[in-house]
Amino acid sequence: MEKALRPMHRLLVTGGCGFIGTNFIRYLLQDADFDGQIVNVDKLTYAGNPENLTDVAAQYPQRYVFEQADICDSEALKRIFDRYSIDSICHFAAESHVDRSIVAPDAFIQTNIVGTFNLLELARAYRTRLVLFHHVSTDEVFGSLGDHGAFSEDTAYRPNSPYSASKAASDHLVRAYHKTYGLPVTLSNCSNNYGPYQFPEKLIPLMVLNALADQPLPVYGDGQNVRDWLYVRDHCTAVWRIMQRGRAGQTYNVGGGSEMRNITVVEMVCDILDELVPPQNGRSRRELITFVTDRPGHDRRYAIDFTRIREKLNWQPEESFASGLRKTITWYLDQRWWVERVKSGQYREWIKQQYH
Ligand code: NAD
Ligand code: TYD
Repeated sequence: MEKALRPMHRLLVTGGCGFIGTNFIRYLLQDADFDGQIVNVDKLTYAGNPENLTDVAAQYPQRYVFEQADICDSEALKRIFDRYSIDSICHFAAESHVDRSIVAPDAFIQTNIVGTFNLLELARAYRTRLVLFHHVSTDEVFGSLGDHGAFSEDTAYRPNSPYSASKAASDHLVRAYHKTYGLPVTLSNCSNNYGPYQFPEKLIPLMVLNALADQPLPVYGDGQNVRDWLYVRDHCTAVWRIMQRGRAGQTYNVGGGSEMRNITVVEMVCDILDELVPPQNGRSRRELITFVTDRPGHDRRYAIDFTRIREKLNWQPEESFASGLRKTITWYLDQRWWVERVKSGQYREWIKQQYH
Protein backbone atom coordinates (compact mmCIF):
# COMPACT_ATOMS: atom_id res chain seq x y z
CA MET A 1 0.00 0.00 0.00
CA GLU A 2 1.34 3.44 -0.90
CA LYS A 3 -0.44 5.64 1.63
CA ALA A 4 -2.71 5.78 4.65
CA LEU A 5 -6.41 6.49 4.10
CA ARG A 6 -7.29 10.09 3.21
CA PRO A 7 -9.66 11.96 5.53
CA MET A 8 -12.49 12.85 3.11
CA HIS A 9 -15.73 14.04 4.75
CA ARG A 10 -17.62 16.23 2.27
CA LEU A 11 -17.24 14.76 -1.16
CA LEU A 12 -18.41 16.47 -4.32
CA VAL A 13 -19.29 13.89 -6.98
CA THR A 14 -19.87 15.35 -10.44
CA GLY A 15 -22.04 13.48 -12.92
CA GLY A 16 -23.56 11.33 -10.18
CA CYS A 17 -26.83 10.85 -12.11
CA GLY A 18 -25.02 9.14 -14.99
CA PHE A 19 -24.11 5.50 -15.36
CA ILE A 20 -20.86 5.18 -13.40
CA GLY A 21 -21.55 8.09 -11.03
CA THR A 22 -24.82 6.46 -9.93
CA ASN A 23 -23.09 3.15 -9.25
CA PHE A 24 -20.28 4.94 -7.41
CA ILE A 25 -22.61 6.88 -5.10
CA ARG A 26 -24.62 3.75 -4.35
CA TYR A 27 -21.40 1.87 -3.58
CA LEU A 28 -20.02 4.60 -1.31
CA LEU A 29 -23.21 5.00 0.70
CA GLN A 30 -24.19 1.35 0.90
CA ASP A 31 -20.99 -0.69 0.94
CA ALA A 32 -17.75 1.27 1.19
CA ASP A 33 -15.92 2.44 4.29
CA PHE A 34 -17.04 6.04 3.87
CA ASP A 35 -19.15 7.82 6.49
CA GLY A 36 -19.09 11.38 5.14
CA GLN A 37 -21.53 13.39 3.04
CA ILE A 38 -21.91 13.25 -0.76
CA VAL A 39 -22.97 16.27 -2.79
CA ASN A 40 -23.95 15.13 -6.27
CA VAL A 41 -23.65 17.88 -8.90
CA ASP A 42 -25.20 17.01 -12.23
CA LYS A 43 -26.56 19.09 -15.07
CA LEU A 44 -29.05 16.36 -16.03
CA THR A 45 -28.28 16.05 -19.71
CA TYR A 46 -30.05 13.31 -21.66
CA ALA A 47 -27.67 10.86 -19.88
CA GLY A 48 -28.44 11.97 -16.31
CA ASN A 49 -31.30 10.43 -14.36
CA PRO A 50 -31.89 11.62 -10.76
CA GLU A 51 -34.41 8.80 -10.23
CA ASN A 52 -31.44 6.39 -10.16
CA LEU A 53 -30.77 7.60 -6.64
CA THR A 54 -34.25 8.26 -5.26
CA ASP A 55 -34.04 5.30 -2.90
CA VAL A 56 -30.60 6.16 -1.51
CA ALA A 57 -31.65 9.80 -1.12
CA ALA A 58 -34.52 8.62 1.08
CA GLN A 59 -32.31 6.15 2.94
CA TYR A 60 -29.50 8.63 3.67
CA PRO A 61 -31.12 12.07 3.98
CA GLN A 62 -28.24 13.43 6.07
CA ARG A 63 -25.51 12.05 3.87
CA TYR A 64 -26.72 12.59 0.30
CA VAL A 65 -27.64 15.84 -1.44
CA PHE A 66 -28.40 16.52 -5.09
CA GLU A 67 -27.64 19.87 -6.72
CA GLN A 68 -28.54 20.40 -10.34
CA ALA A 69 -25.75 22.49 -11.86
CA ASP A 70 -23.54 22.70 -14.92
CA ILE A 71 -19.82 22.30 -14.23
CA CYS A 72 -19.28 25.03 -16.82
CA ASP A 73 -21.07 27.45 -14.44
CA SER A 74 -18.32 28.65 -12.07
CA GLU A 75 -20.65 30.76 -9.94
CA ALA A 76 -22.97 27.84 -9.27
CA LEU A 77 -20.01 25.63 -8.37
CA LYS A 78 -18.63 28.25 -6.00
CA ARG A 79 -21.99 28.48 -4.19
CA ILE A 80 -21.99 24.70 -3.79
CA PHE A 81 -18.40 24.62 -2.53
CA ASP A 82 -19.21 27.29 0.07
CA ARG A 83 -22.55 25.87 1.12
CA TYR A 84 -21.24 22.35 1.77
CA SER A 85 -17.60 23.10 2.68
CA ILE A 86 -16.46 20.59 0.08
CA ASP A 87 -13.11 18.97 0.93
CA SER A 88 -12.74 16.45 -1.91
CA ILE A 89 -13.93 15.88 -5.47
CA CYS A 90 -14.56 12.84 -7.60
CA HIS A 91 -15.09 14.08 -11.14
CA PHE A 92 -17.20 11.86 -13.41
CA ALA A 93 -19.29 14.47 -15.28
CA ALA A 94 -18.65 14.32 -19.00
CA GLU A 95 -20.16 13.92 -22.39
CA SER A 96 -19.26 10.28 -22.82
CA HIS A 97 -20.47 8.82 -26.11
CA VAL A 98 -18.00 8.59 -29.01
CA ASP A 99 -20.69 8.52 -31.74
CA ARG A 100 -22.25 11.73 -30.41
CA SER A 101 -18.82 13.37 -30.30
CA ILE A 102 -18.38 12.65 -34.01
CA VAL A 103 -21.70 14.26 -34.91
CA ALA A 104 -21.65 17.17 -32.43
CA PRO A 105 -18.31 17.75 -30.70
CA ASP A 106 -19.14 21.16 -29.17
CA ALA A 107 -20.61 19.92 -25.89
CA PHE A 108 -17.60 17.63 -25.43
CA ILE A 109 -15.23 20.58 -25.58
CA GLN A 110 -17.38 22.59 -23.18
CA THR A 111 -18.10 19.98 -20.53
CA ASN A 112 -15.02 17.80 -20.73
CA ILE A 113 -12.41 20.51 -21.13
CA VAL A 114 -13.90 23.81 -19.93
CA GLY A 115 -15.94 22.12 -17.19
CA THR A 116 -12.88 20.29 -15.85
CA PHE A 117 -10.89 23.51 -15.99
CA ASN A 118 -13.60 25.28 -13.92
CA LEU A 119 -13.51 22.56 -11.29
CA LEU A 120 -9.73 22.72 -11.13
CA GLU A 121 -9.80 26.48 -10.71
CA LEU A 122 -12.25 26.14 -7.87
CA ALA A 123 -10.19 23.40 -6.27
CA ARG A 124 -7.19 25.72 -6.52
CA ALA A 125 -9.14 28.57 -4.90
CA TYR A 126 -10.08 26.26 -2.00
CA ARG A 127 -6.66 24.64 -1.93
CA THR A 128 -6.17 24.92 1.84
CA ARG A 129 -9.05 22.60 2.66
CA LEU A 130 -8.81 20.35 -0.41
CA VAL A 131 -7.89 16.76 0.45
CA LEU A 132 -8.16 15.32 -3.06
CA PHE A 133 -9.32 15.91 -6.65
CA HIS A 134 -9.85 12.59 -8.40
CA HIS A 135 -10.32 12.68 -12.16
CA VAL A 136 -12.10 9.78 -13.84
CA SER A 137 -10.85 9.15 -17.36
CA THR A 138 -10.71 6.58 -20.11
CA ASP A 139 -8.21 4.29 -21.82
CA GLU A 140 -9.35 5.83 -25.12
CA VAL A 141 -6.86 8.68 -24.59
CA PHE A 142 -4.10 6.23 -25.61
CA GLY A 143 -5.55 5.66 -29.09
CA SER A 144 -5.64 2.31 -30.82
CA LEU A 145 -3.51 -0.85 -30.47
CA GLY A 146 -2.48 -3.43 -33.04
CA ASP A 147 -2.85 -7.14 -32.37
CA HIS A 148 -0.40 -7.15 -29.46
CA GLY A 149 0.47 -5.16 -26.36
CA ALA A 150 -1.50 -3.17 -23.82
CA PHE A 151 -1.73 0.45 -22.63
CA SER A 152 0.40 1.23 -19.60
CA GLU A 153 0.42 4.49 -17.67
CA ASP A 154 3.50 5.48 -19.70
CA THR A 155 1.90 4.95 -23.12
CA ALA A 156 1.88 8.18 -25.16
CA TYR A 157 -1.51 9.86 -25.60
CA ARG A 158 -2.88 9.52 -29.16
CA PRO A 159 -6.63 10.19 -28.95
CA ASN A 160 -8.55 9.59 -32.17
CA SER A 161 -12.11 10.84 -31.54
CA PRO A 162 -13.35 14.23 -30.35
CA TYR A 163 -14.47 12.42 -27.16
CA SER A 164 -11.08 10.91 -26.41
CA ALA A 165 -9.28 14.11 -27.40
CA SER A 166 -11.43 16.10 -24.97
CA LYS A 167 -10.74 13.59 -22.20
CA ALA A 168 -7.02 13.70 -23.01
CA ALA A 169 -7.09 17.50 -22.69
CA SER A 170 -8.78 17.25 -19.30
CA ASP A 171 -6.25 14.65 -18.10
CA HIS A 172 -3.42 17.00 -19.07
CA LEU A 173 -5.02 19.90 -17.21
CA VAL A 174 -5.45 17.82 -14.06
CA ARG A 175 -1.85 16.67 -14.18
CA ALA A 176 -0.64 20.23 -14.85
CA TYR A 177 -2.53 21.56 -11.81
CA HIS A 178 -0.65 19.05 -9.69
CA LYS A 179 2.74 19.96 -11.13
CA THR A 180 2.17 23.71 -11.26
CA TYR A 181 0.04 24.42 -8.20
CA GLY A 182 0.67 21.34 -6.10
CA LEU A 183 -3.02 20.38 -6.19
CA PRO A 184 -3.53 16.94 -4.62
CA VAL A 185 -4.86 14.97 -7.60
CA THR A 186 -5.17 11.36 -8.67
CA LEU A 187 -6.30 10.08 -12.07
CA SER A 188 -7.70 6.82 -13.39
CA ASN A 189 -7.87 5.66 -17.02
CA CYS A 190 -10.35 2.86 -17.30
CA SER A 191 -11.54 0.50 -20.03
CA ASN A 192 -15.15 -0.01 -21.22
CA ASN A 193 -17.62 -0.31 -18.39
CA TYR A 194 -20.90 -2.21 -18.44
CA GLY A 195 -23.58 -2.88 -15.84
CA PRO A 196 -26.80 -1.45 -14.37
CA TYR A 197 -27.95 2.11 -15.24
CA GLN A 198 -25.96 2.43 -18.49
CA PHE A 199 -27.77 4.63 -20.98
CA PRO A 200 -29.03 2.49 -23.88
CA GLU A 201 -26.87 4.09 -26.54
CA LYS A 202 -23.71 2.16 -25.58
CA LEU A 203 -23.01 -1.25 -27.11
CA ILE A 204 -24.26 -3.67 -24.45
CA PRO A 205 -27.55 -2.06 -23.32
CA LEU A 206 -28.36 -1.07 -26.90
CA MET A 207 -27.98 -4.67 -28.06
CA VAL A 208 -30.03 -6.01 -25.12
CA LEU A 209 -32.93 -3.67 -25.78
CA ASN A 210 -32.88 -4.01 -29.57
CA ALA A 211 -32.76 -7.78 -29.28
CA LEU A 212 -35.73 -7.81 -26.89
CA ALA A 213 -37.65 -5.60 -29.33
CA ASP A 214 -36.75 -7.90 -32.24
CA GLN A 215 -34.84 -5.02 -33.88
CA PRO A 216 -31.61 -5.26 -35.91
CA LEU A 217 -28.35 -5.39 -33.91
CA PRO A 218 -26.03 -2.92 -35.69
CA VAL A 219 -22.40 -4.09 -35.52
CA TYR A 220 -19.96 -1.52 -36.91
CA GLY A 221 -17.53 -2.59 -39.65
CA ASP A 222 -16.41 -6.21 -39.45
CA GLY A 223 -17.18 -6.56 -35.72
CA GLN A 224 -13.57 -7.51 -35.02
CA ASN A 225 -12.73 -4.42 -32.94
CA VAL A 226 -11.58 -5.37 -29.46
CA ARG A 227 -12.50 -3.70 -26.17
CA ASP A 228 -11.52 -4.59 -22.62
CA TRP A 229 -14.67 -4.84 -20.47
CA LEU A 230 -14.97 -4.04 -16.77
CA TYR A 231 -18.09 -4.53 -14.63
CA VAL A 232 -19.03 -1.09 -13.31
CA ARG A 233 -18.88 -2.09 -9.65
CA ASP A 234 -15.24 -3.09 -10.12
CA HIS A 235 -14.55 0.36 -11.54
CA CYS A 236 -16.19 1.90 -8.47
CA THR A 237 -14.01 -0.11 -6.07
CA ALA A 238 -10.93 0.90 -8.07
CA VAL A 239 -11.77 4.62 -7.99
CA TRP A 240 -12.41 4.50 -4.25
CA ARG A 241 -9.20 2.55 -3.62
CA ILE A 242 -7.23 5.16 -5.57
CA MET A 243 -8.96 8.00 -3.72
CA GLN A 244 -8.14 6.47 -0.38
CA ARG A 245 -4.65 5.20 -0.99
CA GLY A 246 -3.33 6.36 -4.36
CA ARG A 247 -0.27 8.56 -4.54
CA ALA A 248 -0.91 12.25 -5.22
CA GLY A 249 -0.05 13.17 -8.81
CA GLN A 250 -0.27 9.54 -9.91
CA THR A 251 -2.28 7.99 -12.74
CA TYR A 252 -3.67 4.44 -12.47
CA ASN A 253 -4.87 2.30 -15.36
CA VAL A 254 -7.95 0.25 -14.52
CA GLY A 255 -9.04 -2.75 -16.58
CA GLY A 256 -11.02 -5.94 -16.46
CA GLY A 257 -8.56 -8.35 -18.08
CA SER A 258 -11.49 -9.18 -20.40
CA GLU A 259 -10.60 -8.44 -23.99
CA MET A 260 -13.47 -9.26 -26.32
CA ARG A 261 -14.28 -8.76 -29.99
CA ASN A 262 -17.48 -6.78 -30.48
CA ILE A 263 -19.11 -9.56 -32.46
CA THR A 264 -18.45 -12.00 -29.61
CA VAL A 265 -20.00 -9.61 -27.10
CA VAL A 266 -23.12 -9.27 -29.25
CA GLU A 267 -23.38 -13.04 -29.76
CA MET A 268 -23.09 -13.58 -26.00
CA VAL A 269 -25.87 -11.05 -25.41
CA CYS A 270 -28.07 -12.93 -27.89
CA ASP A 271 -27.36 -16.32 -26.33
CA ILE A 272 -28.05 -15.19 -22.75
CA LEU A 273 -31.27 -13.50 -23.84
CA ASP A 274 -32.38 -16.59 -25.79
CA GLU A 275 -31.92 -18.60 -22.61
CA LEU A 276 -33.61 -16.13 -20.23
CA VAL A 277 -36.40 -15.00 -22.58
CA PRO A 278 -36.89 -17.69 -25.24
CA PRO A 279 -37.81 -15.98 -28.53
CA GLN A 280 -41.47 -16.41 -29.48
CA ASN A 281 -40.61 -17.18 -33.10
CA GLY A 282 -38.14 -19.87 -32.02
CA ARG A 283 -35.26 -18.23 -33.93
CA SER A 284 -31.97 -17.30 -32.32
CA ARG A 285 -31.52 -13.58 -31.79
CA ARG A 286 -28.14 -13.92 -33.48
CA GLU A 287 -30.14 -13.68 -36.71
CA LEU A 288 -30.77 -10.00 -35.86
CA ILE A 289 -27.06 -9.15 -36.14
CA THR A 290 -26.52 -6.67 -38.99
CA PHE A 291 -23.13 -5.40 -40.08
CA VAL A 292 -23.35 -1.65 -40.75
CA THR A 293 -21.00 1.11 -41.97
CA ASP A 294 -18.01 1.51 -39.69
CA ARG A 295 -17.63 4.38 -37.22
CA PRO A 296 -15.21 7.02 -38.63
CA GLY A 297 -11.80 6.72 -36.98
CA HIS A 298 -12.95 3.56 -35.18
CA ASP A 299 -10.19 2.43 -32.77
CA ARG A 300 -9.29 -1.19 -33.51
CA ARG A 301 -8.21 -2.52 -30.17
CA TYR A 302 -7.92 -1.44 -26.53
CA ALA A 303 -6.16 -3.45 -23.84
CA ILE A 304 -5.09 -2.37 -20.39
CA ASP A 305 -2.06 -3.22 -18.33
CA PHE A 306 -3.25 -2.59 -14.76
CA THR A 307 -0.17 -3.86 -12.97
CA ARG A 308 0.28 -0.59 -11.07
CA ILE A 309 -3.09 -0.59 -9.30
CA ARG A 310 -2.87 -4.33 -8.73
CA GLU A 311 0.58 -4.26 -7.18
CA LYS A 312 0.62 -0.87 -5.46
CA LEU A 313 -2.99 -0.68 -4.29
CA ASN A 314 -3.87 -4.36 -4.12
CA TRP A 315 -6.92 -3.96 -6.39
CA GLN A 316 -8.24 -6.40 -8.92
CA PRO A 317 -11.58 -6.96 -10.67
CA GLU A 318 -13.97 -9.40 -9.00
CA GLU A 319 -16.43 -10.06 -11.80
CA SER A 320 -15.79 -12.21 -14.87
CA PHE A 321 -17.25 -10.98 -18.15
CA ALA A 322 -19.62 -13.94 -18.40
CA SER A 323 -21.05 -13.47 -14.90
CA GLY A 324 -21.12 -9.66 -15.16
CA LEU A 325 -22.91 -9.77 -18.50
CA ARG A 326 -25.54 -12.15 -17.15
CA LYS A 327 -26.10 -9.89 -14.11
CA THR A 328 -26.37 -6.85 -16.38
CA ILE A 329 -28.88 -8.46 -18.73
CA THR A 330 -30.94 -9.67 -15.77
CA TRP A 331 -30.95 -6.11 -14.41
CA TYR A 332 -32.27 -4.72 -17.71
CA LEU A 333 -34.94 -7.41 -17.80
CA ASP A 334 -36.03 -6.59 -14.26
CA GLN A 335 -35.89 -2.82 -14.70
CA ARG A 336 -37.99 -2.28 -17.79
CA TRP A 337 -39.55 0.76 -16.07
CA TRP A 338 -36.10 2.40 -15.95
CA VAL A 339 -35.57 1.90 -19.66
CA GLU A 340 -39.01 3.28 -20.47
CA ARG A 341 -38.37 6.29 -18.24
CA VAL A 342 -34.95 7.29 -19.61
CA LYS A 343 -36.14 6.91 -23.19
CA SER A 344 -39.47 8.71 -22.85
CA GLY A 345 -40.27 12.35 -23.51
CA GLN A 346 -42.55 12.16 -20.48
CA TYR A 347 -39.49 11.65 -18.34
CA ARG A 348 -37.81 14.81 -19.61
CA GLU A 349 -40.98 16.69 -18.68
CA TRP A 350 -40.83 15.19 -15.20
CA ILE A 351 -37.23 16.38 -14.78
CA LYS A 352 -38.26 19.90 -15.80
CA GLN A 353 -41.03 19.97 -13.20
CA GLN A 354 -38.77 18.64 -10.44
CA TYR A 355 -35.70 20.71 -10.99
CA HIS A 356 -36.58 23.94 -12.79
P1 NAD B 1 -22.73 9.11 -18.62
O1 NAD B 1 -22.85 9.79 -19.95
O2 NAD B 1 -23.61 7.94 -18.33
O3 NAD B 1 -23.00 10.19 -17.47
C1 NAD B 1 -22.46 11.48 -17.50
C2 NAD B 1 -23.16 12.32 -16.44
O4 NAD B 1 -22.57 13.63 -16.44
C3 NAD B 1 -24.67 12.50 -16.69
O5 NAD B 1 -25.39 12.32 -15.50
C4 NAD B 1 -24.77 13.93 -17.18
O6 NAD B 1 -26.02 14.55 -16.87
C5 NAD B 1 -23.61 14.60 -16.44
N1 NAD B 1 -23.13 15.80 -17.13
C6 NAD B 1 -22.83 15.93 -18.45
N2 NAD B 1 -22.45 17.20 -18.71
C7 NAD B 1 -22.47 17.87 -17.52
C8 NAD B 1 -22.16 19.20 -17.14
N3 NAD B 1 -21.76 20.11 -18.04
N4 NAD B 1 -22.28 19.54 -15.85
C9 NAD B 1 -22.69 18.62 -14.92
N5 NAD B 1 -23.02 17.36 -15.23
C10 NAD B 1 -22.90 16.97 -16.51
O7 NAD B 1 -21.20 8.76 -18.47
P2 NAD B 1 -20.51 7.53 -17.74
O8 NAD B 1 -20.45 6.38 -18.67
O9 NAD B 1 -21.12 7.36 -16.39
O10 NAD B 1 -19.02 8.09 -17.58
C11 NAD B 1 -18.62 8.81 -16.41
C12 NAD B 1 -17.16 9.18 -16.53
O11 NAD B 1 -16.37 8.01 -16.66
C13 NAD B 1 -16.83 10.06 -17.75
O12 NAD B 1 -15.89 11.02 -17.35
C14 NAD B 1 -16.23 9.08 -18.74
O13 NAD B 1 -15.31 9.73 -19.59
C15 NAD B 1 -15.54 8.11 -17.82
N6 NAD B 1 -15.36 6.74 -18.33
C16 NAD B 1 -16.45 6.06 -18.82
C17 NAD B 1 -16.28 4.76 -19.28
C18 NAD B 1 -17.45 3.95 -19.78
O14 NAD B 1 -17.25 2.85 -20.31
N7 NAD B 1 -18.69 4.42 -19.67
C19 NAD B 1 -15.02 4.16 -19.25
C20 NAD B 1 -13.93 4.89 -18.75
C21 NAD B 1 -14.13 6.18 -18.28
P1 TYD C 1 -19.40 1.99 -27.22
O1 TYD C 1 -20.28 1.28 -26.25
O2 TYD C 1 -19.96 3.18 -27.94
O3 TYD C 1 -18.07 2.37 -26.44
P2 TYD C 1 -16.66 2.99 -26.99
O4 TYD C 1 -16.88 3.54 -28.34
O5 TYD C 1 -16.38 4.04 -25.99
O6 TYD C 1 -15.67 1.85 -26.94
O7 TYD C 1 -18.88 0.96 -28.31
C1 TYD C 1 -18.17 -0.22 -27.96
C2 TYD C 1 -17.73 -0.88 -29.23
O8 TYD C 1 -18.91 -1.34 -29.94
C3 TYD C 1 -17.03 0.05 -30.21
O9 TYD C 1 -16.00 -0.67 -30.88
C4 TYD C 1 -18.10 0.46 -31.19
C5 TYD C 1 -19.01 -0.75 -31.23
N1 TYD C 1 -20.44 -0.49 -31.47
C6 TYD C 1 -21.11 -1.20 -32.47
O10 TYD C 1 -20.53 -2.04 -33.18
N2 TYD C 1 -22.44 -0.95 -32.65
C7 TYD C 1 -23.12 -0.03 -31.90
O11 TYD C 1 -24.34 0.18 -32.14
C8 TYD C 1 -22.42 0.68 -30.88
C9 TYD C 1 -23.12 1.71 -30.02
C10 TYD C 1 -21.07 0.40 -30.70
